[in-house]
Amino acid sequence: MYDPKPVELANQFHQATYATPATVQAYAPGRIEILGNHTDYNAGTTLSTAINRGTAVVLSPSDTSGVNLSAANLDQSVHFDPTTDETMSDEYQWANYVKGVFNLLRPHGIEVDNVNCTFAGSIPMGAGLSSSAALEVATAYALIEFAGGQLKPITIAKVAQAAEQRFAGCNCGLLDQFSSIFGVPSGLIHSDFRTLETTSVELPAEARFIMINPHIEHALAESPYNERRSSCEKATAQFNSLLDHPVETLRDVSWEEFTQYRDRIDPEAAQRAEHVIAEITRVAHGIELLEQQNLHAFGQLLYDSHETSRTAFENSCPELDLIVEAAREAGALGARLSGGGWGGSVVVLARESEAKALCQSIIKTGRTHRLDPSAEITIPSAGAQIINP
Ligand code: GLA
Repeated sequence: MYDPKPVELANQFHQATYATPATVQAYAPGRIEILGNHTDYNAGTTLSTAINRGTAVVLSPSDTSGVNLSAANLDQSVHFDPTTDETMSDEYQWANYVKGVFNLLRPHGIEVDNVNCTFAGSIPMGAGLSSSAALEVATAYALIEFAGGQLKPITIAKVAQAAEQRFAGCNCGLLDQFSSIFGVPSGLIHSDFRTLETTSVELPAEARFIMINPHIEHALAESPYNERRSSCEKATAQFNSLLDHPVETLRDVSWEEFTQYRDRIDPEAAQRAEHVIAEITRVAHGIELLEQQNLHAFGQLLYDSHETSRTAFENSCPELDLIVEAAREAGALGARLSGGGWGGSVVVLARESEAKALCQSIIKTGRTHRLDPSAEITIPSAGAQIINP
């Protein structure tokens, strides 16, 4: 299962630009983070889904050296040398993700050159749905197929993450890449970033996740994301010297230990750690509640998550807060910011029978506050794949 639109667009653009059909087609979906905010780089746990929108990357051999790369949605093309690791100019920032993957796959024996490459996507950019991870993952799948190689999914996720870190400047964890790779139709992905294991979690049939995009600017590389990561590392080091067991990451600090020792560490670091440790606890609790089909209590965890984002981690913004409140007033089961924060989208949990009315109500409230939000009921979908012609 994949979104056919970007695949068609990428193929059409490729044929029109390079006068040859693509020989390899890969697709990777975007994601929604459901619970476990900023826990991935703290060796924590998350619940997420891959969504029914994604990015397609198609390839064909070329006679000349280097990579001809086209972005079909933008109607732009660039040429680069895949052996160099310099980033592209600001004008072609989108190319950096692809360039990063070409370059970082080389040490794994996937050395692709002399190639035409086109991508197209249906994930709105800047909406917090990980369009960049989908592009990195789809590029990696396409290149591995083109080279006739094989890499483990976890290695692919790490290459894609490294491309994001080194070529796009965001010191992210593995959540987005894992979600795009390990997506399951109609279920959630439970990822453990200590063991790097994923399992699927069944969703009650009536559960629907709605993405509300308030359409505000969002670029994680320019946000305090990297600063928050440093604060978590600071809290980790301080807990390590206070507790009587090793603390390698915030995963090693229980909620009880946190409440007992929080006043003895740097106040700002404690505030950031509060959100992360609470989120790890919420993921475990959330899985139990889903097993019990208790959507009502599960939804409350989403509201609780947004609350510590807003007050402790401070990665929300007035527009996201407004949407969460609009969802609450409209009777949603739960709502929270999804992903890095400081923009992006709000994920709303609703029962199927109420989802459409909720969308309308939230849009209406947004408009009375000079926002122009869009709403989409998403479908949890399969992960990245090669598409056979
Ligand atoms: C972004 C990052 C992820 C993760 C989330 C927050 O999406 O890319 O690695 O840290 O933010 O949970």
